[in-house]
Amino acid sequence: MQPIGIFDSGYGGLTVMREIVRELPQYDYVYLGDNARTPYGTRSFETVYQYTLECVQKLFALGCPLVVLACNTASAKALRNIQQLDLPRLFPASPDAPTDGPTRRVLGVIRPTTEVLGNYSKTGHVGILATRGTVLSESYVVELEKFFPHLNVFQEPCPMWVPLIENGEHARHGADYFVQQHLNRLLGQSPEIDTILLACTHYPLLLPKIRQYTPEHVTILSQGEIVARSLSDYLTRHPALARQCTQTGQRQFLTTDSADDFSRQASPFWGETVSAVHLSL
Ligand code: DGL
Repeated sequence: MQPIGIFDSGYGGLTVMREIVRELPQYDYVYLGDNARTPYGTRSFETVYQYTLECVQKLFALGCPLVVLACNTASAKALRNIQQLDLPRLFPASPDAPTDGPTRRVLGVIRPTTEVLGNYSKTGHVGILATRGTVLSESYVVELEKFFPHLNVFQEPCPMWVPLIENGEHARHGADYFVQQHLNRLLGQSPEIDTILLACTHYPLLLPKIRQYTPEHVTILSQGEIVARSLSDYLTRHPALARQCTQTGQRQFLTTDSADDFSRQASPFWGETVSAVHLSL
């Protein structure tokens, strides 16, 4: 089996994988959650890069020709180095097709999102809700500048949201305080914000509460569908890579922490029960 690898620091990437599987059900997938070392959002550039590279190499060792970093923090802090430094070193282009680049690929979630985000806004004022790591990296601001140079981008880090979600507190009353607090801070930066991006793969679980405290005219976007459509396009544009990915419809779930805990807690993210296996790095 040569599955498509999907990586996240924990459970959040399952919200992206769910949409990818909906869009491209024929492929095999292996999900790896680095639950033992989550959260990534508060960690340094070097640490996130090192952790992400280890996990990506593990997925390659399991036969994945292509890995999707379904984590904004990893995409912001590790993707560029992996694409520019590690892949050419570990998987150099084949002598038969030197212009095709490395023989294995890693994609992130920020580029596909920034390619389309500006299309959703009428006022040209968009808000980004993300982990502190993603906000401080300025990745969204830099990438959006390339595709929508006139867009006004406002960011708000929400450091309490991932712990609330990872601990299963997102639907409880206590979460309302932190949801309101960060939304007020974001919307307070510009009354013209008409589009909010949930730029963390965990945040879709807070969507009912986020919707409750956001004015009705504001569009709230999750990334899953955007990333899934972009991956589908990418595979169409890279037929040789697409042919390497096997198509028997299998899904496997791996975690660096307890498989029982993962199986118990993954269903709100995945939408149905999951049977996970522990993976030692
Ligand atoms: N899922 C990660 C993201 O999309 C955040 C979770 C974490 O902090 O590890 O940024």
